[in-house]
Amino acid sequence: MNNQSHSAPPSWFSTPLFRVLLSQILGFAIAFAGALSAVAITGETIHPLITLLVQGVVAALIGHRLGLAKWWIPVQIVLPPATLIATAWQLPPWVFLLVFVALLLVYWNTARNRVPLYLTNRTTWAALHELLPAEKGGQFIDIGCGIGGALLYLARQRPDMTFTGIESAPLPFALAWLRRLLTATRNLNLIYGDFWKEDLSGFDVAYAFLSPEPMPKLLEKVKAEMKPETLFVSNSFVAPDHPAAEIVAVDDARETKLHIWRN
Ligand SMILES: C[S@@+](CC[C@H](N)C(=O)[O-])C[C@H]1O[C@@H](n2cnc3c(N)ncnc32)[C@H](O)[C@@H]1O
Repeated sequence: MNNQSHSAPPSWFSTPLFRVLLSQILGFAIAFAGALSAVAITGETIHPLITLLVQGVVAALIGHRLGLAKWWIPVQIVLPPATLIATAWQLPPWVFLLVFVALLLVYWNTARNRVPLYLTNRTTWAALHELLPAEKGGQFIDIGCGIGGALLYLARQRPDMTFTGIESAPLPFALAWLRRLLTATRNLNLIYGDFWKEDLSGFDVAYAFLSPEPMPKLLEKVKAEMKPETLFVSNSFVAPDHPAAEIVAVDDARETKLHIWRN
């Protein structure tokens, strides 16, 4: 950006993948320095699995301090020992390729859009159902619909309404498509594509469960495109400059909040 101050860190610095890498490198240095010191002091060697576990724990703590989301903590802890276990099992290389391709197909957008896949829970599906307009008919869209759980539930509850889901990650989209096929849900349309390119003007209710990253731009899109007396609902995430009109607290274990904007 042209008007960025010279002291501002480059944008790649704030990406989660960079922070994970940095915390693992620091975790590695600390854990292996500790292991070597322990050998020098006690004369006993430390099992590499223990050292790698320490690396994971240290990396998780550093990552947390660097502002990584909480779900990175177990991932960071498991990552170093898992590499050793995988090597010890002498798995054929295609297994790694297969896992990589599967993860790529699920987390297609995560590095670029900063929106991973996690799913709206059943209690929140029911809370969303309560928010649907009482009058018959209407169009609902799930912006980034994942595997389509919320949509299938709502489509069953409200056969008078039409539901649309848009998803750009191939594997979740394929699963949503298959679920619609197997349940023969007629009032559900699924679009494979980028929600930034989807016109929201035809929808009465739009729902999103994304991440903090796209929220400011998405709320601008909602304001520009959605018609008066329509509803935008965001699960958990908000944007500082666009306060929600209402918040519904869901009675679930993760204390979900549905933020509601009325156009
Ligand atoms: C956190 S998941 C939510 C899934 C679903 N809405 C739910 O609540 O269960 C967000 C989804 O948005 C998708 N997504 C992210 N950016 C997208 C984009 N630009 N266009 C379409 N889908 C996108 C991701 O692939 C992911 O499946």
